[in-house]
Amino acid sequence: MENVTIINHPLIQHKISILRDKKTGTNEFRSLIEEIAMLMGYEALRDLPVEDVQVETPIETCMTPMISGKKLAVVPILRAGLGMVNGILALVPSAKVGHIGLYRDETTHEPHEYYCKLPTPIELRTIVVTDPMLATGGSAVAAVDFIKEHGGRNIKFMSIIAAPEGVKRLRDAHPDIQLYIGHLDRCLNENAYICPGLGDAGDRIFGTR
Ligand code: PRP
Ligand code: URA
Repeated sequence: MENVTIINHPLIQHKISILRDKKTGTNEFRSLIEEIAMLMGYEALRDLPVEDVQVETPIETCMTPMISGKKLAVVPILRAGLGMVNGILALVPSAKVGHIGLYRDETTHEPHEYYCKLPTPIELRTIVVTDPMLATGGSAVAAVDFIKEHGGRNIKFMSIIAAPEGVKRLRDAHPDIQLYIGHLDRCLNENAYICPGLGDAGDRIFGTR
């Protein structure tokens, strides 16, 4: 599918399998989410623009590439997307961080917004939206709607586990954004949870419920 990359790397797949295990505790779960985000970020950021700068080595002066502009924004969807932020910041420490607070209504499964703040100037930044779970796609579409309403254009969406239903909804609503997925799962169940999935990502990262 156009603009959809499934990052089928053995390290990522191995770590996702540990995430899925219901016996994996909060501490390990949180670390794994961060590590996977970093590994996925390595791939998702391979098109960051670089420019040659002059550097003096102990031997001679040379022109050598560095990331240009430093205009990256990481925007987690609260709460679970927060768990991925430090993984991306480990790669690009100068990135700015925005927040989009959404929760799914337990009955309708539709997202409700409770907090949004984006770094400026958002229109000049490459924006990496993070959320470990792409289920119905409602939260992802609402987050990207919000970012675009505020002028964001160059948007990448990173999700560790996705359902086909969510990928389709996000692709249909926003065909221009780049979507990076760790694993494409089978389907959603009657409660709109991903199968086999990993359960409730926010609760497992923060140790709630
Ligand atoms: C989870 C998850 C996504 C959303 C995915 O968040 O982190 O944001 O559900 O579902 P969707 O694709 O059907 O919208 P949740 O609403 O449970 O909030 P939380 O992160 O605060 O637990
Ligand atoms: N949100 C989660 O945290 N997990 C799912 O399986 C679906 C939505």
